Amino acid sequence: FVPRSSSGFGGPQPALDAQGTPVTASAWLADHKPGDRSLVQGLKGDPTYLVVGEMGLESYGVNSVCTHLGCVVPWNAAENKFMCPCHGSQYDAQGKKTRGPAPLSLALVHVGTDEDGGVALSPWRETDFRDGQEPWWA
Ligand code: FES
Repeated sequence: FVPRSSSGFGGPQPALDAQGTPVTASAWLADHKPGDRSLVQGLKGDPTYLVVGEMGLESYGVNSVCTHLGCVVPWNAAENKFMCPCHGSQYDAQGKKTRGPAPLSLALVHVGTDEDGGVALSPWRETDFRDGQEPWWA
């Protein structure tokens, strides 16, 4: 759950599907099983992965834009990692960089639901839980 009122500037925005339609959590989870990472249109239009865990949608999403030169990084389920086709950078299942030339991990966003059950994304300005660093993208 993402409280609308506490986020202030840059608050929650709906996750949109390829047709630009807001995504609902129930519909998404009906179509995407645990372990799935699939794209929605996220903040600023950036293609962003929603992550499905055993308990439903994870509270973080992963911006798919490679931190090297900006290719959209596909999820490779067989390898359990994100693998950039452009120059070979790799990121683990949470988007943490594991191989360059990318200099940085993939950016995070917060994922929650609004009162209508829609998936809402909001900027991640807190510590990056994957490495304990300040978020480079904030
Ligand atoms: Fe991804 Fe270069 S753009 S490795």
